[in-house]
Amino acid sequence: MAISYQHRPVMLKETVEFLKPAPGQVFVDATLGGGGHAEALLAAGGQVIAFDQDRDALAAAKARLAGHENIEFIHDNFSNLKKHIKAPVDGILFDLGVSSYQLDESSRGFSLQQAGPLDMRMNKAAQLTAADIVNAYSVDELARLFKEYGEERFAGRISRAICARREKQPIATTLELKEIVEKAIPTWKKRESVTRVFQALRIAVNQELDSLQLALDAAVDLLKPGGRIVVISYHSLEDRIVKHTFRELAKNAILHLLTKKPQLPGEAEAAENPRSRSAKLRAAEKL
Ligand SMILES: C[S@@+](CC[C@H](N)C(=O)[O-])C[C@H]1O[C@@H](n2cnc3c(N)ncnc32)[C@H](O)[C@@H]1O
Repeated sequence: MAISYQHRPVMLKETVEFLKPAPGQVFVDATLGGGGHAEALLAAGGQVIAFDQDRDALAAAKARLAGHENIEFIHDNFSNLKKHIKAPVDGILFDLGVSSYQLDESSRGFSLQQAGPLDMRMNKAAQLTAADIVNAYSVDELARLFKEYGEERFAGRISRAICARREKQPIATTLELKEIVEKAIPTWKKRESVTRVFQALRIAVNQELDSLQLALDAAVDLLKPGGRIVVISYHSLEDRIVKHTFRELAKNAILHLLTKKPQLPGEAEAAENPRSRSAKLRAAEKL
């Protein structure tokens, strides 16, 4: 079956050009997802150690990559890279955020287009769901969350609307939350605010920023001299962490930056794959 454009790996060509896979080299794919990037590394003769905290993603990628022997699958958060990898590696890839498979599966609660439970856990074994946060945080805690993790200017209004609604009954679904946010703010930019609220909840549920910071430091430690790291991020909070970490490590002569500014997808990819439009790729080499 042909892969639909939504399931094509983002910035694949650029990723492969930066990682320069050669036969026998070892790569970590910290975010296996649908397995598209891993497949390209395997096709170039590389060995891949693949992480995903989502068991469903691992199972689907395992099926897709069934013909390949040089891949090891690890179900864990990428903040635990060092628990599993003991020898230095040639390259590490992070393609952050949720996969198109997760977005398409309404029961996971990531999509603001489809009705689903307010879940948003990438790892279904984790305790905290988006519904827990929406129904239990105080008005001030919610406002802080939407401001910090969503950079949402109507954070206060949205939080008050959520708290008023949940007094009647708990908020259980993605579409209920979407409707509350849309009603709480002025007519223009409703879509952007809903997106930012969903982003903030997803970041909080999965502790995405803390995991990323821990993982970047570990990843750079694990690289061989000359080894390369590529990070594709999809929102400014992630990109800021990558930019600052890389800059700091470059200042300390640990990394050489291969991208002074983030690379963006080419016009053709952006036109074809909406998901790629917010992608920013940064790459660096270990000194
Ligand atoms: C954008 S997708 C990766 C797509 C993949 N590169 C491909 O070619 O299909 C991101 C994946 O990383 C996983 N993920 C996100 N954060 C993670 C973390 N902290 N630890 C492990 N996996 C994570 C998600 O579950 C998701 O499957």
